[in-house]
Amino acid sequence: MSWVKVTSMDDLVPGAPVRVDLPGHRIALVRVGDDVYALGDRCSHAEASLAEGEVVDHEIECPRHGAVFDLKTGKPLTLPATRPVPTYRVKVEDGDVYLSVEPS
Ligand code: FES
Repeated sequence: MSWVKVTSMDDLVPGAPVRVDLPGHRIALVRVGDDVYALGDRCSHAEASLAEGEVVDHEIECPRHGAVFDLKTGKPLTLPATRPVPTYRVKVEDGDVYLSVEPS
C-alpha cells in the first residue's frame, strides 16, 4: 500500500474539514480530536463539496441539501442522500497525515 503525505496535524483544525485533491480522487479530510477521517468529497446526492459542510461529533452535513454522513463509514444517515461516499485509509506518523487511495 502506498501512502501520500497530505498535511500535518498542526494544520488540521478539529471540526474544520479541508479538501484534498489527489489524482482521480477528491477527498474531504476531517479531524475529530486526535483522529482523522477521509471520505469522498463529492456528496452522493448532487456532488456538493462535503469539505464545505458542518461537522458535529463524527458526522458531516452536506452544505447543499443537508444530508448527513457518518465520517467513519461514509454512509448517509439522513435523506436526501441514499448512497454512501467512499472512505479512505488515514495514518498519522510523527504529526504528519498520510492518505492511501488504494483499495484495501
Ligand atoms: S448535494 Fe448533498 S444533500 Fe444534496
